[in-house]
Amino acid sequence: MHTRASKSTSKLTLSNRCRVSIEGLATGTAEIDWRLTEGFRPLTDRELRVVELVALVETSAIYQAYTGLAGGGLADPEFAEFAARWIVEELRHGELLRIAAGGTTKMSRIDLREQAADARRLGTRLAPAVARIAHVLVGDAFLASYCIAGALVERSVIETYRLMEVKLAGTAVADLLPHIIRQEARHLAFYEAKANSLRRKRIARRISDAYARRLWQPLALNTLGKRHWMEIVGHLVQTPDDARRLRAVDRYGRERLGIVGFHGWDSALRANSLDFP
Ligand SMILES: [Fe+2]
Ligand SMILES: [Fe+2]
Repeated sequence: MHTRASKSTSKLTLSNRCRVSIEGLATGTAEIDWRLTEGFRPLTDRELRVVELVALVETSAIYQAYTGLAGGGLADPEFAEFAARWIVEELRHGELLRIAAGGTTKMSRIDLREQAADARRLGTRLAPAVARIAHVLVGDAFLASYCIAGALVERSVIETYRLMEVKLAGTAVADLLPHIIRQEARHLAFYEAKANSLRRKRIARRISDAYARRLWQPLALNTLGKRHWMEIVGHLVQTPDDARRLRAVDRYGRERLGIVGFHGWDSALRANSLDFP
């Protein structure tokens, strides 16, 4: 009897936390068969930091979506419809990761308001304006570049979460990740198909190739900054196999997206001495 009462209390706590989402965007946990946190091991401080940072990358999606929509996506009904769903799903990922982290350890340490400010910074205020100008100048090639980035990011996130599943084994976060990965795979399929269709035009292909080779940086390295990026990737990449997993994203870019000479992850891992040759 006593056990039952304490179970329902922890359930209530979880659903209360669920409503505490950044900027008041409550997205709920309806799609996830959430289990009570008992039986999971708590996250270490370092692991908690990794989860906080990837949750931040997830919730910055709303600002990334502005860029795609401002850069021609709003005029493309298929893209606009996808983007609306995508924002909700990515926000939910960030929120669920925070809940799963909080379910096993010190959730109260995470300052949601500070994270919302960081997410705005990650999106950068100028990006939508730059996207609008770029769209005027290069047309569909901008959206093609955005979708190339989308596919590379989704594939990177999937590989990152697969690494996290292993490194965080036994935690509630590791239990949640396969659910999120399934949704990321659907995002990946959309971006890949859209990029490949937009890149049928030669000019779109050339410009988006150049974008991917010269400007794209893995897992929000350019917006997170090197220190935060290393907190995530430095923790996850400990062996040659770990590095190989992330390098697989480069091969995906070359083989499935057709980006000639793409080595985004390889360059970033080398530059940060994580290449394990
Ligand atoms: Fe996500
Ligand atoms: Fe995604």
